[in-house]
Amino acid sequence: MSIYKEYLHEAVIAARTAGQYQKYRFASSLNIEMKGDKNLVTEVDKESERLIVEHLLSHFPDHDIVAEEGEYRQGGSSYRWVIDPVDGTTNYAHGYPWFCSSIGLELAGELVVGVIYNPVYDELFTATKGGGAYLNGSRLSVSTRAPLEHSLLGTGFPYDCATDPANNFANFIAFQKMARGIRRAGAAALDLAYVASGRLDGFWELKLKAWDVAAGVLMVREAGGTVTTFDGSSYDIFTDRIVASNGLIHNEMVAMLASVATSASVESKQTMATCSSQDNVNF
Ligand code: IPD
Ligand code: CA
Ligand code: CA
Repeated sequence: MSIYKEYLHEAVIAARTAGQYQKYRFASSLNIEMKGDKNLVTEVDKESERLIVEHLLSHFPDHDIVAEEGEYRQGGSSYRWVIDPVDGTTNYAHGYPWFCSSIGLELAGELVVGVIYNPVYDELFTATKGGGAYLNGSRLSVSTRAPLEHSLLGTGFPYDCATDPANNFANFIAFQKMARGIRRAGAAALDLAYVASGRLDGFWELKLKAWDVAAGVLMVREAGGTVTTFDGSSYDIFTDRIVASNGLIHNEMVAMLASVATSASVESKQTMATCSSQDNVNF
């Protein structure tokens, strides 16, 4: 039995409570605010976070909390909960039934518990460090599919993709040409849970936040998968570039991201050279 059982148990209750509420409010009329041009927050995000945080703090009042919608005590506890109350907010706000809650727990900076709950499918993904990953109680393992050419991948795009060139578009085109397919479903935590369960073979994204990935990263690792940054180096949840896979296609994914980055830098040098030669002519 996992030494993290007590934490897992309470995280599951918190995620199910929030999920029940999300299902109850789904497709009803909602107060929606804008956090940025494309980035929404609904009253359900806020209330879900309140339900989760209140439950966890009622059992673990000394623990620290990082969550998407609010500021909480950072009291220097070695336990830190990392929470996305609704991952897939755009989907939720549009009545598109693809969203979840994601709850991770770090102990001394190491991920030890992960819970991702999809209330629409009633699918509960759980993981504990050293104790494996599970879907509704059945042990998970990553897929055995390779090479990349035969793989189904997941990804997403940052909210500022219209204004920042680090927008993932070039990576998307390159992977779409090579892989069997790509899904942009709109909830990074579920993408990671899907890599853990073998439904996706790989996932990459940039500019994700710790709450998007905390639970899912542990899940992929505990299901036998690999998680790194884009250059293949070791990943922590505050790094903003992630590649997660079944391990078998990992090197191919990292190589693809490197080749896209190299072409982008050659192109931008050529553009700069062309611009400066045009400047000279005009001058
Ligand atoms: C978003 C989702 C989406 C990803 C975005 C995230 P939110 O989280 O995970 O799939 O592409 O970058 O910000 O805003 O729905 O919690
Ligand atoms: Ca999120
Ligand atoms: Ca969210």
